[in-house]
Amino acid sequence: MIKPCEPKGARITGIGHYVPERVLTNSDLEKIVDTSDEWIVTRSGIRERRVAAQNQASSDLVFEASKTALGDAGVDPKDLDMILVATITPDMQFPSTGCIVQDRLGAKKAAAFDISAACSGFIYGLSVATAMIATGKAKKILLAGVEILTRIADYKDRATCVLFGDGCGAVVLEEGETGEGILSTYMQSDGGLGELLYLPGGGSRMPLTEEKLREGQQYVKMKGDGLFKCAVRSMVDAAKRTLKEADLSTSDIDYLIPHQANIRIIEGVRKRLKLEKEQVVVNIDRVGNTSSASIPIALSELKEAGNLKKDDLVIMVAFGGGLTWGAALMKY
Ligand code: UT7
Repeated sequence: MIKPCEPKGARITGIGHYVPERVLTNSDLEKIVDTSDEWIVTRSGIRERRVAAQNQASSDLVFEASKTALGDAGVDPKDLDMILVATITPDMQFPSTGCIVQDRLGAKKAAAFDISAACSGFIYGLSVATAMIATGKAKKILLAGVEILTRIADYKDRATCVLFGDGCGAVVLEEGETGEGILSTYMQSDGGLGELLYLPGGGSRMPLTEEKLREGQQYVKMKGDGLFKCAVRSMVDAAKRTLKEADLSTSDIDYLIPHQANIRIIEGVRKRLKLEKEQVVVNIDRVGNTSSASIPIALSELKEAGNLKKDDLVIMVAFGGGLTWGAALMKY
């Protein structure tokens, strides 16, 4: 009988991020919609967010973050087998942002595609990349989470526009020894709750006519309280599942990197996982909710600050539109 091969480990060997220069503060938003710094800070934890320049598209942000991640890993783009871009704000419907980035990087032999899983996109991407490496289909993968959410935010809707920001985080994953790197991942969806967070216009269901544009169908629609109720429960559940799969417990965790949607959600997850405040990576105050970019930006900032050490156990958890949620457990 043929013995099945041991799955290869997938290690994160390079990390980088890029956020646009322009800062949009809460007091700037006070001039645009009926809101206040006090409301935004107490309800969400956000103080400011970044806004992409007019001439920047998502692939431009990925290009910048990828240069850092590839340099950190010491990987030549020509050696990449795959490029995955998690995003709900691609440059255009197609070609994928992954293909656009592939061309820019000169990653000639890579297969490239996008992953649409909203705020869970980076976790979904980690799951796909880990599986591709585990089965020997790829040895070197570039994975980015990127968003320019300020282009799909309605600056007449105070309930949503104050939350979102732009940015990108990228990692390079490489084949390692069995049991190294990403130890376990978990993905889950509930399409029945899709209407809690969605963008109706511009797809085949609702092409954008002048009338639809006037109605604002090109913008994100969100039922914040409905999302809030599911967020903590599903992220905690996903985290526990990945820990169980790796035969580890919450007491083994060094860092929690949660999706940055709301500081109150982050706190709820932290408390239920019985972690200390210092173990949780938070940047929502400075960058807002950047959907699929939020976890890799936070991971990159953790490394940049010199706080990510070899063998640290990091759990990343996300939740978002779809609904989608999931977690990934990494030994760095
Ligand atoms: O990224 C992944 C998916 N996203 C999430 O998981 C987001 C989850 N939800 C949330 O983070 C929170 O629900 C929000 C931050 C979006 C909202 O906080 P909330 O405590 O749930 O507020 P609310 O929507 O219940 O609104 C409370 C009040 C309302 O006024 P009334 O009806 O009580 O008079 C809103 O009209 O706050 C009002 N409000 C605002 N006031 C000032 C809503 N937005 C604003 C605003 N400034 N920007």
